[in-house]
Amino acid sequence: MPHNYYTGEKAELKIDGQVHELPVIVGTEGEKAIDIRSLRGQTGYVAFDSGYANTGSCISNITYLDGERGVLSYRGYDIAELAENCSFVEVAYLLDHGSLPTRAELGEFSQMLNDFAMIHEDMIRFFDSYPPKSPPMAILSSMVNSLCSFYPEMTENPLENIDRMSARLLSKVRTIAAFSYKKSLGYPVVYPRHDLSYCANFLNMMFDSPVRPYEINHKVVAALNKLLILHGDHEQNCSTSTVRMVGSARVNLYASVSAGISALWGPLHGGANQAVMEMLQSIHESGGDYRQYVERAKDPKDPFRLAGFGHRVYKTYDPRCRIIKQACDEVLDDLKFSDPLLDLAKELEEVALKDDYFVERNLYPNVDFYSGIIYRAIGIPTSMFTVMFALGRLPGWIAHWKEMWDDPAWRISRPRQVYIGPLSRPFVPIDQR
Ligand code: ACO
Repeated sequence: MPHNYYTGEKAELKIDGQVHELPVIVGTEGEKAIDIRSLRGQTGYVAFDSGYANTGSCISNITYLDGERGVLSYRGYDIAELAENCSFVEVAYLLDHGSLPTRAELGEFSQMLNDFAMIHEDMIRFFDSYPPKSPPMAILSSMVNSLCSFYPEMTENPLENIDRMSARLLSKVRTIAAFSYKKSLGYPVVYPRHDLSYCANFLNMMFDSPVRPYEINHKVVAALNKLLILHGDHEQNCSTSTVRMVGSARVNLYASVSAGISALWGPLHGGANQAVMEMLQSIHESGGDYRQYVERAKDPKDPFRLAGFGHRVYKTYDPRCRIIKQACDEVLDDLKFSDPLLDLAKELEEVALKDDYFVERNLYPNVDFYSGIIYRAIGIPTSMFTVMFALGRLPGWIAHWKEMWDDPAWRISRPRQVYIGPLSRPFVPIDQR
């Protein structure tokens, strides 16, 4: 990673009558930051920033995001171009290796993904022990954590094995996701096939059955590739920061990613795609009065929020949502699938975008608002939506874990706090309380 981001410029902080100088950092896109690592040492103060909205936790060269202009790129490539021209495997390679693969590199990488597609037969038995209707994200997170028991290839320097570990994880998570779906239905699992591409293989494991063979539809495969690419990375979001934070304690890749899966599960994060579909379904079933939901979302006394709306970083239209919204029309058209929930979603968006409450707070639909409509059209059940997000986000988590591990400025993540609890209290023995 280049180390020329210090410009020599200094920010001045005047506190307790003294001026302190703090170095300024400028990123390649002109993003500015003040390096406050010496703040406590110089002044005795810590920075307070709940929710980390103003905190840059690392220097990274993976993903660039400008929330004011609605720009998103991976390793310098605009996501719209990647989504239009690449397969998910190419983009996973880009995120994890830093450059787009040549044909030979892509062939080698795809071969590794094929080689690692099976999961240990003993792991398959784990699925039998989960109660019916277990949340698939709970299963995914614990199965991924279990991978380090079966594949303990962490050496003194795990970066030596990182390509194999990444390929193994990318391939096996896909198999685990499909198996968890089959097991939730009580159906036999379908093993991965070496003759199928990454996405086709996943769809086949999800939908093939001994009594009704699955026919691969290339339009469905293309739609899935696009969705996974658009979820590939999103810099320091909650789950990625979790992967980095857990990994900063020098925890192995599988356990760190397992923690990221748990963070993604939340309805304020990746779980929003399921929440959007449930919200649209319930509006539809109750007669389609979406205005009532908009009013509820605006009521400060009501905890309800419009799922799939708003974003910590985007203060304009989420560029991923723009692409997915357009893809919704194309995919539904291609598959001759008509979905009243798509019309409902568009009407809801239109009303919200004209409403002062949403306008004043810069609340736009995010990546999760339309993705569920495509998943539904290609047959993915709502309970699996967040698992699909995890499948897409995996290359990003791996890239960040790798970058964090290799960072010469790495330190264990350990924020401070401002304590406001009681002052020292005399201890009272239990019988006298
Ligand atoms: N519906 C109604 N009001 C909203 C919404 C929403 N979806 N999102 C934010 N607001 C309001 C807040 O109530 C707040 O209003 P106030 O200023 O009157 O108090 C204001 O907008 C700012 O919201 P914050 O909560 O401060 O924004 P924050 O950056 O902390 O949260 C978040 C971002 C969590 C995404 C939020 O917008 C939200 O809950 N959205 C719904 C869930 C969702 O779609 N999550 C997916 C995000 S994308 C992803 O993670 C993959």
